[in-house]
Amino acid sequence: MQLKTSSTYVLLLLLLLNLSITNTELIGLKKQFKLFVKNVASTFHENWRRHYISEHPHTRNRFKLTQNGSHYNSSDFIYPMILTVGSCLVHRNLKVARARFNSSITYVDILNMNYDELPVDWAYENRATAQVACRQVLQSIRQKLIFNRDLVEKISKKIHNAWIKRNAHRTAKELLSPYENLPEAEKDKDRRAFLIACRLFNELHLYHYFKTTPIQLTDISFE
Ligand SMILES: *[C@@H]1O[C@H](CO)[C@@H](O)[C@H](O)[C@H]1NC(C)=O
Ligand SMILES: *[C@@H]1O[C@H](CO)[C@@H](O)[C@H](O)[C@H]1NC(C)=O
Ligand SMILES: *[C@@H]1O[C@H](CO)[C@@H](O)[C@H](O)[C@H]1NC(C)=O
Repeated sequence: MQLKTSSTYVLLLLLLLNLSITNTELIGLKKQFKLFVKNVASTFHENWRRHYISEHPHTRNRFKLTQNGSHYNSSDFIYPMILTVGSCLVHRNLKVARARFNSSITYVDILNMNYDELPVDWAYENRATAQVACRQVLQSIRQKLIFNRDLVEKISKKIHNAWIKRNAHRTAKELLSPYENLPEAEKDKDRRAFLIACRLFNELHLYHYFKTTPIQLTDISFE
């Protein structure tokens, strides 16, 4: 489903770009787009970890509920600890915990996991954000937009709206408010997603594949 959406999107984009390309080139571009999204998702997560730690220097972990934690070996949960999420048994890797009195409830420490370690539900969130950011980069290039502060705000809003759509069921209602009403720290997350996508578009030399030039930011800088 995920894959289909992005491939379809690239196809559509190419039609709009009016590039005449061969099937082989198209397959290559799809591969580049996937690589783009994967890199942005991973960098976005690392970037979030770094910012979170600098903003919360005394926080050592951030355990979050996962729906996809059942594959961990039950006999590896060996340390009884009280965490912010409650009384748990912690995995020997210290990055996964199970509720002490209900072993079907699993938490993962997203602050100490790199992107590749995240369970599928948490990786999905990063990838979904990255996908929106990457599409917006390609679309902005196609429309020959100027990469300035205004554009960053416009696209951050789109990134946030897509997040709302995916998370409408969530309980933290304050984050479901429109982009304009978000605290700056929350807006910054959306802005960073786009600015990371801009930087990686250049660093991965994707302009070469998409037959365009590197992105030049005007009154802003890469993240
Ligand atoms: C992740 O968890 C969700 C909700 O329980 C489930 O629908 C989905 O199939 C799981 N995915 C994987 C890869 O385990
Ligand atoms: C789980 O861990 C135990 C103890 O380390 C080991 O003996 C067992 O084979 C593991 N089970 C699986 C399914 O990996
Ligand atoms: C354990 O947690 C699961 C998932 O939240 C829940 O469905 C189940 O009823 C709980 N079991 C007990 C014994 O509380």
